[in-house]
Order: sequence, then C-alpha cells, then structure tokens
Amino acid sequence: MRSVITGSGIGIPKNVVKNEILGRIMDTSDEWIRTRSGIEQRHYADPGQGSAELGIEAAQSALRAASREVKDIDAIVFATMTPNHFFPGNGPLVQARMGFDEATPTFDIRQQCSGFLYGLDLADSLIRSGKHRRILLIGADVHTPFMPWQNGWDITIGREDRQVTPEEYAENTKYRDRIVLFGDGGGAVVVEASDDEERGLLASKLFTNGSNIESLYVAGVGFRHRPYVTKQQIDNGDPVPTMEGREVFKQAVSKMPEAVRAVCKTAGVEVSDIDVLLIHQANLRIIEGVAKQLGLPAEKVPHNIERYGNTTAGTLPILFHECVTNGRIKPGMLVGFTALGSGLHWGAALYRA
Ligand code: ACO
Repeated sequence: MRSVITGSGIGIPKNVVKNEILGRIMDTSDEWIRTRSGIEQRHYADPGQGSAELGIEAAQSALRAASREVKDIDAIVFATMTPNHFFPGNGPLVQARMGFDEATPTFDIRQQCSGFLYGLDLADSLIRSGKHRRILLIGADVHTPFMPWQNGWDITIGREDRQVTPEEYAENTKYRDRIVLFGDGGGAVVVEASDDEERGLLASKLFTNGSNIESLYVAGVGFRHRPYVTKQQIDNGDPVPTMEGREVFKQAVSKMPEAVRAVCKTAGVEVSDIDVLLIHQANLRIIEGVAKQLGLPAEKVPHNIERYGNTTAGTLPILFHECVTNGRIKPGMLVGFTALGSGLHWGAALYRA
C-alpha cells in the first residue's frame, strides 16, 4: 500500500506587494531584499482573510484536480502556525464550511515551516495503518497579522494612501529583517491509498530539536503569562516573531541536506537519483546552499520564493502544485521534499510521482 497525491491546489491572496512598497513604510530597499533573500514580491491577505480561507480555496481546487468530492474524503490534516483562532484550529472551520460529514476527523498540526512535511508523514501513516484511505492535507499561513497595522500597513495593500510618520517608519524598521521575508498563501493536496507500488511516498524522515527555540519563536502571547496577552507585551512588540537570522540560516543549510541524505538512504536511492527537489522557500540563498551541498544542479531545484516570499506551511504544497501544473514534475519522476523551521523541526520525504 502506498500513499499517492492525486490532486493539488493553491489559495493565494490577490494583493501583490512588491519590495518597493515595503520601502515606503520602513527603511529597506528592493536591492537589499533581492540580494539577501531572492524575494521580489509577496502576497498579502485582505483583512478578514485568514489561513482557513486560503486553505479552503486550495482544498477546493485540490479536490477538483483529484476528481473527488467532499464525501470521498475520510480525514483532514491542516498544518498552520497562524490559525484563524487561538483555538480551535482551522480543521473544524474547513469541516463545517466545506460541508464535510461530522465523521470526518480533523487534525490540526503546527510544525511551522515543516508543517506540510509533517502532515504528509501523518497522512501516510493514517493511510498505511488502514485507518483512512483518502486524506485532504492543507498547509497555509498568513503572516501579515504579526505586523503592526496601525503603522501604515494598509498602504501596502492599497487601502490607504499617505506617508507614514517618522515614528511609524522607525517602529516598522525595527522588524525589517523578518517582515520582508514573509508572505501569505496556502496549498493543499489529496493523498490517497493506492495498490500501485510504483508510485507514491517512498520514505520520510522527521527531526526535532527544541534546545534553542529562541532562534525563531514568538516570545510574547502564551499561556505561561497571566493573562496570556498584556498591553505591555503588545507595546514591547512581543507578539512579533523573534528571529536570529544567521543562526536559522546556518541550521537550514546544514540540516536539510542531512535529512535528504538520510531519507535517500532509507529509500535505497542516491541523492543524484532525485529528479526534482522541492526545498522550503525561506531564502534563495538557503535553497542554493542546500542544492550545492547535495550536488544537485539548479534545474533540479525549482523555486518560486521570488513571487511569494516565505509562506511557512504553504511553501511546499504551492511549489508542488506549480511544478505539477507547469510540467516540471512528470509521472515517474523521483521528487524530494525538504523543510526546516521554527522548533526547530525539519525533515525530508521522497515521492515517486
Ligand atoms: N532592509 C535593509 N537592511 C536590513 C534589513 C532590511 N529588510 N534587514 C536587516 N537589515 C540590515 C541589518 O540591520 C544589518 O545592518 P548593520 O550591518 O548595519 O547592522 C545588515 O542589514 C545585515 O544584516 P544581517 O542580519 O547580517 O543580514 P544577512 O545577510 O544575515 O541576512 C536574513 C538576513 C535575510 C534574515 C538571513 O539571515 C536569513 O534569511 N536567515 C534565515 C531566516 C529565515 O529564513 N527565517 C524564516 C523562517 S525559518 C525557515 O523557514 C528556514
């Protein structure tokens, strides 16, 4: 029994935000963002459009691509670190709004940038255990709510036309190293049990090391504090993620190649056998660094970070969907997935298309 992806889809908000626009509200530039990260633009959600809405859009198109209907799905896995509500997760929202039967269980998982990879492993485990045959797997995130919107952020999505004040500009600039990297978006796949041993998920390897969560986390807003969010935390900027950029970069370029080598060993294939490696889209320099370490040529490592930035749990399903629809991934090809993100969680998977 193998787990096969039978359809994919994406949900991308309509607002395109070019680097130059960010330069209007903080001290940054297209040149800095492009050379450090490869990002040229990202999409921002509209107010009221959360990761659940983007995930549902992606899920609807994945179901259509798989020629499946809601009634055909046995379980839902939703990976996001930015759910619409603190609780419950997005799973019940998908269940109710898309009209799934209440006997369709939903799993909400939160492994940040590795969320889709963990979700794929979970879907495969549920299928191989014989518990479920068809699973809807969604990965979506909206990062814009992390940003201080009172500081002229509506300018970025064309809802306001003014100059920010010097104070707002200075405040936004405090977070520029993180803000410029992220965008909003989601993707979804339908994963199904198949008796075709030639296709499907061959192996996956997952890792976690929580010894330095401070390298990428949200310091404030959490249930260690009473109350869990205070005005002072908001004034301190604690709800904005904290990131040691260089440390995360270093971990990403060493752990992802290790995970790809490990999963290849498990599956009994060589790294050079991989036809297409889908790497979490966090920074073009990280993507190029991982490819170089693995000795994979650029044509085997597609990227779309220039158009979307880092969409966290959305990057891998969005990239997979684009590669399937533009013919980069063809039946029979060996496809690798790898990601690393906050936790740290990381891993890799191998899939025969
Ligand atoms: N615009 C202009 N200047 C900036 C900006 C900005 N947006 N951000 C930082 N700078 C400045 C800094 O203040 C610093 O100035 P200084 O030298 O006067 O102090 C200078 O640019 C250099 O900053 P560095 O942090 O050294 O730049 P670096 O080359 O390391 O790039 C970056 C920073 C892009 C954040 C990089 O470290 C990175 O991508 N790290 C990985 C982080 C990541 O990907 N996180 C996402 C989640 S985890 C994951 O998905 C893998």
